[in-house]
Amino acid sequence: MTDSLYPIAKVAHLLSLGQPDELVLVRGWVRTKRESKQDFAFIELNDGSCLANLQVVVPGELPGYATSIKELSTGTSVSFKGKLQASQGKGQRIELLASELHVLGTADPATYPLQKKGHSFEFLREKAHLRPRTNTFGAMARVRNAISFAIHSFFQERGFLYVHTPIITGSDCEGAGQIFQVTTLDLARLAASGRAVDYSQDFFGKPAGLTVSGQLEAEIFATSVGDCYTFGPTFRAENSNTTRHLAEFWMVEPEMPFYELADNMTLAESFVKYIIRQVMEKCGDDLAFFNERIEPKLLESLNNIISHNFIRLSYTEAVEILQKSGQSFQFPVEWGVDLQSEHERFLTEQHFAQPVILYDYPRQIKSFYMRANDDGKTVRAMDVLVPRIGEIIGGSQREERHDVLVARMQECGLKPEDYWWYLELRKYGTVPHSGFGLGLERTVQLITGMVNIRDCIPFPRTPKSAEF
Ligand code: 4AD
Ligand code: MG
Repeated sequence: MTDSLYPIAKVAHLLSLGQPDELVLVRGWVRTKRESKQDFAFIELNDGSCLANLQVVVPGELPGYATSIKELSTGTSVSFKGKLQASQGKGQRIELLASELHVLGTADPATYPLQKKGHSFEFLREKAHLRPRTNTFGAMARVRNAISFAIHSFFQERGFLYVHTPIITGSDCEGAGQIFQVTTLDLARLAASGRAVDYSQDFFGKPAGLTVSGQLEAEIFATSVGDCYTFGPTFRAENSNTTRHLAEFWMVEPEMPFYELADNMTLAESFVKYIIRQVMEKCGDDLAFFNERIEPKLLESLNNIISHNFIRLSYTEAVEILQKSGQSFQFPVEWGVDLQSEHERFLTEQHFAQPVILYDYPRQIKSFYMRANDDGKTVRAMDVLVPRIGEIIGGSQREERHDVLVARMQECGLKPEDYWWYLELRKYGTVPHSGFGLGLERTVQLITGMVNIRDCIPFPRTPKSAEF
């Protein structure tokens, strides 16, 4: 029965292959129905395989036409068998002339939430179980898929090993105290009893949480099997309701032995460009849609990113540019402060109008593991900043000197004994090494032009929101 079943994305090819007599079976969900007075109907059918709908002509003489056609409202699932033909109407090249129709599941027009009119993204977030049926979220799902695939192929082509780092961990890589705790202790009973928490009674016998980054474990593999990357979900209990932060997001983190900061920057730049090129090649229709409906300068900006070298600039130079800019920022800039999105966007959108890699950040605003520079003030950190988003990649050369690292941990309030294994990598056969992390959802944001990061992941987790 499935010998002639086709996804709509493939149907267009069939006609060009010169197989006009083949009976084609398609299945999907009705987007719209138009009934003609001459006793036939046009159905716009979508199955998510591509942005385009397939127009299906349903002739009145089809058995059961009168009943079925009533049921074919928006959202109804249906299968059609028929022949492809060049379309006489405007707006599509081919259509299916149906000779068989089966309604699989009706969708009551009185209650089906996705009606023909457009819906706000806020409304659709509350309908995350149905929003992939819209053009925007179907396209988002395909682009996200293409980005994920490109991430793997970029590293696989270069011989990097994909390593799986743990989701549950006892260490806070970023040291920012944004860990979601994982426990099997009965918190309600503990609270009622008024007793202090005894972690030795907990599942792992000590405090544990969801990982904020797989970097520390990736470093273990980089310093043994060589170039590697980890790619998975990461979690941060960051109580910030911005358009760029999620509590659960995906991050890809390559880690390379013998790389210094400049090598790290070069790899990061090729990586971003590679992903964009791949998505442009694989999801051309989807990007054209985002360009038309979401962000009018999208394609121009993506082309601009892939065709120029990224600017490389020290943090100190960036601060000077920002101070001399004459802009009135909400957060004033002075040496030593963390840059805000408004500053990153000024650099990438106005001042340079292209991506910028900032490096050598003040040590007090960066994590404990970054390699200290000789000036005593800065560390070998790098952030890749892009227009519309700001930071898309954060990375660094790692501190490979045992004693310097211990001192730095103490300065950051970390207990070196908690990181004994991380320190042993520096004790036994230490090597210079570097790596970075790219946020998947911010990459989806960059490539689709979507304004809110909550619309760049199927089921966003944010403060007070974990539905679905
Ligand atoms: O700059 P971050 O915090 O770096 C790290 O976690 C390092 N351990 C990476 C490494 O060197 N291996 O995060 C890296 C990237 C950011 O640039 C951003 O794209 C994304 O992860 N990111 C977030 N994305 C969505 N929501 C959040 N709350 C994010 N926090 C970071
Ligand atoms: Mg960062």
